[in-house]
Amino acid sequence: MDVAVQAEFRPENAEPRLLRDALGRFATGVTVVTCLSDGQPVGITANSFASVSLDPALVLWSIARSSSRFAAFAGAQNFAIHVLGADERDLAARFTRGGAGFDGLALSTGAGGTPLIEGTLARFDCALHQSLDGGDHVILLGRVLSASYRAGAPLVFSQGHFGGFAV
Ligand SMILES: Cc1cc2nc3c(=O)[nH]c(=O)nc-3n(C[C@H](O)[C@H](O)[C@H](O)COP(=O)(O)O)c2cc1C
Repeated sequence: MDVAVQAEFRPENAEPRLLRDALGRFATGVTVVTCLSDGQPVGITANSFASVSLDPALVLWSIARSSSRFAAFAGAQNFAIHVLGADERDLAARFTRGGAGFDGLALSTGAGGTPLIEGTLARFDCALHQSLDGGDHVILLGRVLSASYRAGAPLVFSQGHFGGFAV
């Protein structure tokens, strides 16, 4: 096995690409987080989702302060986290810059009017528990009001690519 270190990041000789590339070795799932802002549905593709606590039921994700959607999520008392299945890559593309957003999607309504996308692999309807400073991101802790899921394999993201999960 090749265990050679390919590159090393140190804050004092900051090369952000190295940090991003190292972080990219961590595989994540992919979510779309939604909220209602000024009566309009807002959504963003996010892989920063993590489970935090079972009792009370808490989850987190983080949003970039630089995002055009930052104000919407920073001001929302509710949000819904949709975990995407392997067959829902199109949903991930919808909620990145320039994506089609909610156009033509069947929606239902969650707590506080939060737009809910139907059929995703899992969904967590949340009330904001706490927001925390996370540097150039803000960490949003959510209290889970309801959770649901269906059978299926997750969409996976690592090293800048979408992929699948093989057992
Ligand atoms: C796989 C993936 C994961 C992402 N995760 C996050 C995230 O956790 N938080 C975040 O703020 N943006 C995340 N983004 C970026 C946003 O989805 C979106 O592309 C970005 O906010 C676009 O900028 P805008 O909001 O200014 O239009 C992710 C993008 C991709 C493709």
